[in-house]
Amino acid sequence: MVTGKPLFTAEQIQSRVRELADRISSDYGGKNLLAVGILRGAFMFYSDIVRMIRVPLSVDFIVASSYLKTSTTGEVKVHYDIREDIKDKDVLLIEDIVDSGITLNYIRERILARSPASLRICAFLDKRGRREVDVPLDYVGFQISNEYVVGYGLDYDNKFRNLPYISIFKKNR
Ligand code: IMP
Ligand code: MG
Repeated sequence: MVTGKPLFTAEQIQSRVRELADRISSDYGGKNLLAVGILRGAFMFYSDIVRMIRVPLSVDFIVASSYLKTSTTGEVKVHYDIREDIKDKDVLLIEDIVDSGITLNYIRERILARSPASLRICAFLDKRGRREVDVPLDYVGFQISNEYVVGYGLDYDNKFRNLPYISIFKKNR
């Protein structure tokens, strides 16, 4: 079940996303920006932030999921890969939440192997205390503690993604 009041309301989210978008807009002036969303979780954050970024950009997506999440060798499966030729592009990866870091680290290395001009990472939520693999984050919406959250694209069993706010999720027992 989704508990209590939102951890971050829709209004808090929108104002933080605007701050991130402003920083990105000033950092990427004159660059060849390719915004790559990691689906499915980042779909809502992605669509909000690209609308607030004020420099020209191209869009692309990668669909990935990780399992064996308790293991540091957790495997990541790519279901759909980036279509653009990323060589010489300034790639900005957009992720919903970083937990162990395994998913993002895998995708980051996969992109770096294709020689982009640059690669930066923007994550809406960061559970830093849970990190198993160190992955550099350039833009972070909010740091959160070790709690399972849903809404704003984030799911439990593919549910709750449509909530316009972030809420803490507890399993019914
Ligand atoms: P990591 O590979 O352990 O960093 O896991 C990252 C992925 O796990 C995210 O992209 C989410 O899809 C999922 N995830 C991690 N924590 C949460 C959470 O609190 N709520 C919903 N999904 C989460
Ligand atoms: Mg995700």
